[in-house]
Amino acid sequence: MTILVTGGAGFIGSNFVLDWLAASHETVVNLDKLTYAGNLHNLAAVAGDPRHVFVHGDFGDTALVNSLLATHQPRAVLNFAAESHVDRSIHGPGDFIHTNIVGTFNLLECVRAYWVALAAPEQAGFRFLHVSTDEVYGSLGKSDPAFTETHKYEPNSPYSASKAASDHLVRAYHHTYGLPVLTTNCSNNYGPYHFPEKLIPLMIVNAQAGKPLPVYGDGQQIRDWLYVKDHCSAIRRVLEAGAVGEVYNVGGWNEKPNLDIVHTVCALLDELKPRPDGKPYREQITYVTDRPGHDRRYAIDARKIEQQLGWRPAETFDSGIRKTVQWYLDNPDWVANVQSGGYREWLAKQYGEPKNPI
Ligand code: NAD
Ligand code: TYD
Repeated sequence: MTILVTGGAGFIGSNFVLDWLAASHETVVNLDKLTYAGNLHNLAAVAGDPRHVFVHGDFGDTALVNSLLATHQPRAVLNFAAESHVDRSIHGPGDFIHTNIVGTFNLLECVRAYWVALAAPEQAGFRFLHVSTDEVYGSLGKSDPAFTETHKYEPNSPYSASKAASDHLVRAYHHTYGLPVLTTNCSNNYGPYHFPEKLIPLMIVNAQAGKPLPVYGDGQQIRDWLYVKDHCSAIRRVLEAGAVGEVYNVGGWNEKPNLDIVHTVCALLDELKPRPDGKPYREQITYVTDRPGHDRRYAIDARKIEQQLGWRPAETFDSGIRKTVQWYLDNPDWVANVQSGGYREWLAKQYGEPKNPI
């Protein structure tokens, strides 16, 4: 048996592939375009494993996807591939429309043609699992109830709007063509291999480099954090037992204001790798101009996946964030490797020219 994964060299996709190969005998065909966010170093541990078939290519390339489906005959396709960074979507929404909407559409078309031609038993067992985000639901007020699967879609950024469009396409392919789809909408992930443009890895990397820790606006925006390996276990569980056509929200009941997250990262670094001058890392916090259209609060109501599929996260926030900070301290080569010229250009564009180290 084989599964086909798109975007399996990115943050969540590579964690998924590593965990899948550790827990299953099934082959993974991993189709990834290797954008700035894709990194084969994430998959070094499975480089010699014949069950991992890496294919460098675009999931919107219908000829390539058709040939992969015909050759490998997967029993499931899991769609992780996306442009995923809100700030980049504000600077340049075009790539997000192209990849997240048009790319997903092209993939769906290929998968539909493959699926209709399968023999009845394979057709019945086939699944298309679409990995999405809680950001499609928009922003919550302070005392609003958390997002359930029936919360109305109100995406506010080009990123979340493009993910919402892809979710709608996936839904339509089920309702119109009967394609056996599953959709997961997960909250913010953190953990190993997280590209240091996102909040938590950026803070860990900047802190050690003696750079400012940029907090947008008042830092009181709330996100609901889940350790990446818990997201991966939820996806495995939904693939295994999810009801066709259903949506599952994934989260760990871990709402935290951004400033609390930054303080926690600083405190862990103070403990695990104190600054040479003995001062606390939180002195590096700098308040910067807020993100335009910044969503104030996300929160996931995870009762459906918990009650219907029996899924629970393995990590608490305290255990997950400690592991994460330790992973970045243990892997300076990975960090150095992703800090390419392109990465430095992004920092200059988003935060202005790099300041002198403190
Ligand atoms: P990422 O940006 O780290 O990785 C995306 C991967 O997709 C990269 O390896 C990239 O090379 C690949 N890719 C991009 N365009 C491609 C294309 N045209 N063809 C093939 N591959 C392509 O993203 P991530 O954080 O790992 O997110 C994975 C998925 O999970 C995304 O769909 C995202 O919307 C969703 N998600 C992310 C989070 C989060 O907190 N990071 C939370 C919920 C849902
Ligand atoms: P991010 O990791 O970009 O995820 P998302 O926007 O998808 O939730 O950002 C998480 C939160 O942290 C978000 O509220 C924006 C904020 N943030 C900062 O305050 N400073 C930063 O430098 C970054 C990258 C994010």
